[in-house]
Amino acid sequence: MTGPTAATARTVGVELGSRSYEVRIGPGVRHTLPELVAGLGARRAAVVSARPAEWTPDPGVPALHLRAEDGEHGKTLSAVEGYCRRFAAFGLTRADVVVSVGGGSTTDTAGLAAALYHRGVAVIHLPTTLLAQVDASVGGKTAVNLPEGKNLVGAFWQPSAVLCDTDYLTTLPAGEMTSGYGEIARCHFIGAGDLRGLSLTEQIAASVRRKAEVVSADERDSGLRHLLNYGHTLGHALERATGYSLRHGEAVAIGTVFAGRLAGHLGRIPPERVAEHHEVVAHYGLPTKLPHDVDTGELVSLMRLDKKATTGLTFVLDGPDGAELVSGVPQAAIDTVLTDMPREAPPA
Ligand code: GLY
Repeated sequence: MTGPTAATARTVGVELGSRSYEVRIGPGVRHTLPELVAGLGARRAAVVSARPAEWTPDPGVPALHLRAEDGEHGKTLSAVEGYCRRFAAFGLTRADVVVSVGGGSTTDTAGLAAALYHRGVAVIHLPTTLLAQVDASVGGKTAVNLPEGKNLVGAFWQPSAVLCDTDYLTTLPAGEMTSGYGEIARCHFIGAGDLRGLSLTEQIAASVRRKAEVVSADERDSGLRHLLNYGHTLGHALERATGYSLRHGEAVAIGTVFAGRLAGHLGRIPPERVAEHHEVVAHYGLPTKLPHDVDTGELVSLMRLDKKATTGLTFVLDGPDGAELVSGVPQAAIDTVLTDMPREAPPA
């Protein structure tokens, strides 16, 4: 990396043999896009952006600019088809590049279009939310939703590079920032160490570094990669039970507190470690209590639908050797811990 961003930026490598790539993190790293595009030898780019033109960097080659809209409603197969048709009309070849600029929904959808177009064309992600920088844009998962469920159609398609420009975060609403911290908080319990007290760039870099290690060891999500779903079993159930009024990172934060309490109840970790779950989540300004009106029976039913739950109720739980996937957790334990979880007060 060259230029004024080099001093403050961090670079994390995702090691996947010939498909290895760099994640660049810091203020202004978006301006290194032309250097990366030139390095790929691409002669044209299709830039799918959910951000205004002034926040969408010039790729340095003739470009097709396509508008995206962040949000789950935009993650559809028809959006993928629409992008691919525009790529074809523009004459994008398999030697060219797709660039995505936006939140996780945009990097997911443009990433899937890149995975499918000409059976795979290079893609560079510029995630613009904290959630997408620390999780969604790194690791090669791309997907869209069906009416039947989230992320049901997708592909593993690793990007050629990821540019996590922290300047984007200066424009994020406070709630979106807090949500992103939910994914940073869960890193504390999956081997990233204590990230409290680090600068934002260092927190993102440490979260990405841990994700990169996990993805390098288990790209296809057949074992270790489950760790990244720490706090997500209850988190996903809470998102659905609240009709998505809880943001993803907030739901994961409550799920992280619950995972700590469940691990404690099962005798896997001592009470101090259970308390640490609460302290870390609260430190990042995230919720630690269940919403006042969620039904615990509904939460259990939703947790049974979790994609990790192939053999009974399954959670990623902390333990003497760190976090691991634990299957067949007795329902009685879950009922007790859910019932004992503190709840938000109902609105006055
Ligand atoms: N977000 C979880 C994963 O990338 O595996």
